[in-house]
Amino acid sequence: MIQNKLELPLFEKKMIAYRDSVNAELIPAFLGDNELDVTKEAAIYSLTVGGKRLRPILMLSIGEMFALKRESVLPFALAIEMIHTYSLIHDDLPCMDNDDLRRGNPTCHVKFGEAIALLAGDALLNRAYEYLLYSSLTLGHESIRAASFLAEMAGSNGMIAGQTLDMESEGHEITPETLELLHRKKTGCLLEAAVRIPYLLTEPQDSQNEIDRILTKYARHIGLAFQMKDDILDVTSSLSVLGKSIGKDKKAMKSTYVTLYGLDRAKILLENEMQGAFSALEEMDQTGLDTSFLYNLTQYLLQRSN
Ligand code: IPE
Ligand code: IPE
Ligand code: MG
Ligand code: MG
Ligand code: MG
Repeated sequence: MIQNKLELPLFEKKMIAYRDSVNAELIPAFLGDNELDVTKEAAIYSLTVGGKRLRPILMLSIGEMFALKRESVLPFALAIEMIHTYSLIHDDLPCMDNDDLRRGNPTCHVKFGEAIALLAGDALLNRAYEYLLYSSLTLGHESIRAASFLAEMAGSNGMIAGQTLDMESEGHEITPETLELLHRKKTGCLLEAAVRIPYLLTEPQDSQNEIDRILTKYARHIGLAFQMKDDILDVTSSLSVLGKSIGKDKKAMKSTYVTLYGLDRAKILLENEMQGAFSALEEMDQTGLDTSFLYNLTQYLLQRSN
């Protein structure tokens, strides 16, 4: 059993500090020295209207766990939030989930029109890699390998494969195996990048080693659990808390843990998945790493209400 957890006020203070630091650096990183235009305005709108910043917080806190310099992790933390935000803008488009609300505000296409929303997503995706590749010039070889891993996780065999399965699974029942794969890809892959990249930035190492194995186990459990929780919140939360429309999965005939298993069973499957994540954390703890923040963060992921 992990003894080492933070008192709630200290955990919350740290969460706010991480979030504030990401928020302070995200727009300068996206815009650089470039002039504003409507596409960049739309991208900045979607970046700034809200968002929990979980992927950058995972990266920055795991980077600290490995005693990495903040400067080497920060470009990845900002890039992954740009990629995540692009994925949400495109996910909300009428040709995909056709949603009007995101992060408590009108979606990008409702505010700026479809063409500009599409371009804003493209701009965020491209800028994320432009920013990372430029940063890699000074950060060195490991960062190029880590950037390539991020591209793999976000790409056509990762998140995009999951979004493809999601669209293809609308309107008909799919097998439990397909649903698990869909969730692992569309949401799990980017979370896996957030968890594993700080370790990839440490030293040249054998990717099969023990720490990476434990991190991967942890990442895959929270990745699947995160989307299960998203499916559950779609039926149990409220618009004002969640910042997104409620009941949209059923309406769009999506395949989710709730539509396939029912709410009660989905909650049990989520608990099981989270137990797997806690067991990975215990293994991490035994290697001597300070998992205290990650322990609280994992509890927060299970209990979150938005
Ligand atoms: C929403 O992600 C989309 C999913 C992958 C479930 P988040 O719940 O992390 O969204 P924000 O960034 O906080 O808005
Ligand atoms: C979105 O999944 C996952 C990605 C954007 C890659 P959902 O479609 O369930 O996310 P929400 O519920 O719209 O945030
Ligand atoms: Mg979707
Ligand atoms: Mg959606
Ligand atoms: Mg959802």
